[in-house]
Amino acid sequence: MTALPLPKPRAAEAAIDPRKHFSAATIATFDALVKQYPEARAALIPMLHVAQAEKGWLAKGTLAAVGAYLKLPPIRVYEVASFYPMFHLEPVGRHVAWVCRNISCDLRGAPQIVETFRRACGIGPGETTPDGKLTLKLAECLGACTAAPMMEVDGEYHENLDPKKVESILRELR
Ligand code: FES
Repeated sequence: MTALPLPKPRAAEAAIDPRKHFSAATIATFDALVKQYPEARAALIPMLHVAQAEKGWLAKGTLAAVGAYLKLPPIRVYEVASFYPMFHLEPVGRHVAWVCRNISCDLRGAPQIVETFRRACGIGPGETTPDGKLTLKLAECLGACTAAPMMEVDGEYHENLDPKKVESILRELR
């Protein structure tokens, strides 16, 4: 099956040099990623993870630089990045906590987990502590329903939570 044609980047977009925007290590990872796919643009999602790991979040300039690397218009990159909640399109704290709010977790105490963040750190969903250390986000099911309620922090799952456990995790993070 033939891939749909994509619009070409405009001149200003094509002039962006990804090598000036990203570290040499990130560019080397991009180079390795695109070799794993029949078409370079298929590497977009893993590349966004790598870009976010370097920059902390995906600013418009970063999306444009990824697009320039793949010869895609920034809007195509934005369409993908804005579809998946794990990509941060605004600055986040050094640590990002995702509290699952789906049905199993909700029934087993997710609201109390969220309330613990408010009490211990003064933040609610979508907010970052003033010292920039921690952002709280709400997630849909993270696939650990048998260990509800749960949250993911910096890629690590914390399960069978209660307010005490959450307070202890937050103390370690801050
Ligand atoms: S409902 Fe929370 S992990 Fe599935």
